[in-house]
Formats: sequence, C-alpha cells, structure tokens
Amino acid sequence: MSPLPFPPGFLWGAATSAFQVEGAADEGGRGESIWDRFAATPGRIEDGRDARVACDHFHRWREDVALMQSLGLNAYRLSLAWPRILPRGRGAPSAAGLDFYDRLVDGLLEAGLAPMVTLNHWDLPQALQERGGWGARDTAAAFVEYAHAASMRLGDRVRQWATHNEPWCIATLGHEQGCHAPGLTDPALALRAAHHLLLSHGQAVPVLRRNAPGAEVGIVLIHGQVEPHTGSAADADAARWWDGAFNRWFLDPLFRGEYPADAVADRVARGHLPPGELPFVQPGDLGHIAEPIDFLGVNYYSRTVMSGAPGPAGEPPPRAVPMAPKEALTEMGWEVWPQGLHDLLLRLHRDYAPPRIYVTENGAAFPDAPGADGVVHDARRRDFLLGHLRALARAIAAGVPVAGYYHWSLLDNFEWAAGYTRRFGLVHVDFETQRRTPKDSARLYAGIAAANAVPAPPPEAASSRSPSPLAAPAP
Ligand code: FCB
Repeated sequence: MSPLPFPPGFLWGAATSAFQVEGAADEGGRGESIWDRFAATPGRIEDGRDARVACDHFHRWREDVALMQSLGLNAYRLSLAWPRILPRGRGAPSAAGLDFYDRLVDGLLEAGLAPMVTLNHWDLPQALQERGGWGARDTAAAFVEYAHAASMRLGDRVRQWATHNEPWCIATLGHEQGCHAPGLTDPALALRAAHHLLLSHGQAVPVLRRNAPGAEVGIVLIHGQVEPHTGSAADADAARWWDGAFNRWFLDPLFRGEYPADAVADRVARGHLPPGELPFVQPGDLGHIAEPIDFLGVNYYSRTVMSGAPGPAGEPPPRAVPMAPKEALTEMGWEVWPQGLHDLLLRLHRDYAPPRIYVTENGAAFPDAPGADGVVHDARRRDFLLGHLRALARAIAAGVPVAGYYHWSLLDNFEWAAGYTRRFGLVHVDFETQRRTPKDSARLYAGIAAANAVPAPPPEAASSRSPSPLAAPAP
C-alpha cells in the first residue's frame, strides 16, 4: 500500500512547555510560579524533585533549536513563562524575560521553525495565587495584561497564539483533585476557576488579534475519546457524564456560548453548584468566551471507557473501565488507542466545526534509555507514533481540517507531579549531564516529516482494525 499523505504545508512540530524544560528558575528576574511552590512542598512530586534546572533549555535553547532543525521539523509549540514576563503577576513586564523569548523566536524563525506560542501552560505567578488565583475573577484581567505584554513584543513574528493549555487540567487537577498546583480540593472552586480561565481566554482574543495582526488565535484543550463500556443505558449515561465534565464543559461555551445543561445538572446533583443560575457567570461573559477563534488545539493521549455499574471490587459508578492489560499501558497508565484520535477529530469537526485544528499534543511515556551502542531503541514510541499518525491521516482524508501535529514532547522533561520519572521525549535527556540523544522515534518522525506522509499499515493490521470500539468484545 502507498504511504498515507498529509496536506501540502502541513506543520510537523514538537511541543514543550516553559516550566517543564526551561529551568533557570531564578535568572533574569523570573518570579515564583504556583508550580515552583507546589514542587517545593514535600510529598507533592513523585520523585521529590523540582524544575529549577529541568532541561536547562533557558541556556541550551540554541542546541534544542538546532536539534529540531536537524530532524527537519518546521514547527515548534512552546509556552512563555508568565512569571518570567510578569514576575509579580501584574505591573511592568520584565525586559529580561521578554528579551529571552525575543531571541528564542528569532532563533526559531531563522531555523525555519514556525513558533506556536501558548501563553498559559499552568505556571501562574504565585503572587496571583495569593490574590485568589484562578478562583478570583481579577486573575482574568491579569491574564489579559500578560497577553498584551507578550503579544506587543512578539506579535510581529509569532503567527499562532494559544491562550491556555488544558483548562480542564488547571481547574480539575489543580482545584478539585489537588494532584496539581495549587493543590486544592474544592469542586465548586474548580468550576469557578474553569469559568475564569475561559473568560480570560475570550477577553484576550481581541487583544492578541490587535497586537498580532493576521496571526491565528486559539486555545488548546485536552480531549479524550469517551465511550460507553456496553450498550446499556447506565453505561451510556456514565459516558455522557464524563464527556460533559471533560470535553463539553469547555467546548460548548467556546463554540456555542453556553454551558452544557446536562453537565450543569450533573454538578448540581453532586452538590458542586447551587440550582439555578451559575454563580460565577456575569452578564456578557458567555459572549466573550464564544469570541470566534481561528483554531482549536487538541491534546489527545487516550480514550476513556465508562461504566455505570459498580466495579469488581465495589468501585462506585460512574467509573472508567481498564481496557488493556497493565503491560500494554504507557508508563502513565494510559491505554494506547490511536483509533480514538480519529474518532475524536471527526466528532469535534461534526459537532463544533472549528475552522482549523492542530493536534497540539500527542505522545507516550516509555522508559527507554541509551543502550550499549549509545542508541535509544524506543520501539513502543515508534509504534505509538505510526498508529496515531495513520489515524490522523485517515481523519484528514475524511475531511477534518487538521493543519499540523506537534508531538509531545521534544525532550524528556519535568512531568509535573511525576517529576522526572516519565519520559515523553523524542529526544532522551540525561538529567545529570544534560546530554541530548535523539531516540529511534525521532528518526522515524524526521522521515515522516520529510515525506509528508506516513507509511501505510501492514495489510493484516489494516483488516483487523475494529470498525467501531463498541463492536470490540468487552474484556
Ligand atoms: C499534558 C500536558 C503536558 C504534558 C502531557 C504529558 O496534559 O499539557 O504538559 O505533561 O500532558
């Protein structure tokens, strides 16, 4: 079979975020972020380590840009560290902070890499947290000031701007589950935080458009493909609940100007919201949130299969059902499910029709390290990449307007609450020496980018692909 092609001009990128790679925590007047504080709190990070050095990208960015260039990539998704630009959250921007990104953007452009900038990849200035963080409406105003400062400086060169990365994670993991910064466990606060994130997005869009004329402006959401475990009504309802809380809670306000009524009712039933009007929504907010955008950034890692029945050990529903044996999962415990990327993209296109989609993150954690030959044979990441790029090519062939793919991640890096224990990079990083070693997957990816096509699957794999996840036998 011939390779599956991608459209001309397709963006082949890799992604990182400032906090996870930069290090240089105290340099250039950078302020403290909520993740610095969280990582410094005993017991919060799996290996007890922090991101004060991380990949030392702040000092080694030239080497990292050259690496991407040598792989033949033409795009790079990075985030700006808010506390590097506004160390205290508000006030006069730091010249040193802006200068750093100015040089980096110029370096990327010289290397033929189109920068996609995300403004908020989770590292809220701690000073703003002390004034209520995302639970405070005023933080939305602070974000708009930050968007203004960044785009005034970089808007003439950066052609793709994303406001936030994964507001669901910030709201839910940070404010409801407490496993991410700022480590709070208050579901009502999480919904308020989600609203302020969405509001600040909508209010920043016109500012970005003004300061970066002609640039594309969008937002990056985490999405899982959500499926019911069986055809039962209880499983359908469990899937509806999770899709509402995870996907539609963000998509509906952004694309329809309303929160999904059924998902609101779920939250009322759980006591997370009072009945009636949403307490945090003020007149005009939903109009701001639904400000038209140019692209939706989609981060896809796995699917969730939901059951409305109690689990084997009495786990209460609604609950996620493990669909793959432990040994087949990635190091994050996530199922490898390329078909979900295809199905999700078709669904987003059908239900929300964003003018353009970028797959802004997709990747897997596997522990591979350099062998005796000095090479990193990360066969499972190679398979992951092939499977997902084939699924993506099929979605594009079916008419979904996807214009780029950014693999998570360029480098092994600081994986949030997991510290340095999970390696997502196309490039291995030895955190003692900071030595970078491209893995086999990086070479595979370089070949795909050069061909602008992914090798077709072997015939037997193509024919055994289950046409619908619901047709797959229950485990
Ligand atoms: C996403 C984050 C990213 C990275 C991957 C594994 O949720 O956006 O920073 O940690 O997960």
